[in-house]
Amino acid sequence: MNGPALSASRLTLRPIEDRDLEIIRNWRNSPGVSDWLFSGPQEITEAQQRAWYGGYVEDETQMRWVIDTQLAGPVGVIGVTELKGWHGSLTIFIGDPAARRMGYGYEALERLCAWLWGRARTKRLIAELYADNKAAKRLYEKAGFHFVAPAEEQNGRPTMIMEKRL
Ligand SMILES: CC(C)(COP(=O)(O)OP(=O)(O)OC[C@H]1O[C@@H](n2cnc3c(N)ncnc32)[C@H](O)[C@@H]1OP(=O)(O)O)[C@@H](O)C(=O)NCCC(=O)NCCS
Repeated sequence: MNGPALSASRLTLRPIEDRDLEIIRNWRNSPGVSDWLFSGPQEITEAQQRAWYGGYVEDETQMRWVIDTQLAGPVGVIGVTELKGWHGSLTIFIGDPAARRMGYGYEALERLCAWLWGRARTKRLIAELYADNKAAKRLYEKAGFHFVAPAEEQNGRPTMIMEKRL
């Protein structure tokens, strides 16, 4: 389900709308993103994207936002899934390659964490990533996550879990 709009200094996290579905699908289908997601490189069709959105807006266990920057407009998506009690699982990508390494991922993550911690019951956020995902590992470390343990292989590749507690 969508949450409220959340403002930060150079960007806003805003609820996903119908008009965002195609750009999100294109980002998700690009190798710079799909290579790093556990869902793998399978092409998502327009129909699948619409079906996903229909389920998403009704699903109380996940919340996602478009990362909408003042300078470059929408550049990616951040969200939390498996929301249950005080636990959530992080998901993030900067879909526009020109917008990577500009600090947007960090700013979006800091804003999301601040909002989640403010909601009384979210006390622990985990992130699952491929062990060789240097960009995500550095982003999470910078935002205060630490390594917990290696996790099950995904698509034949080693993975790990990082977490941040309130
Ligand atoms: C991971 C990702 C979201 C990072 O977003 P970003 O906006 O580019 O990251 P930021 O610019 O905020 O950088 C945060 C930190 O990570 C570092 N970093 C970013 N990309 C990096 C890379 N490719 N290699 C090494 N460090 C990197 C930055 O230098 C910065 O650390 P520093 O301040 O110590 O220098 C982005 O690379 C991405 O979308 N990757 C593909 C999808 C993905 O891997 N998602 C996570 C799945 S678990």
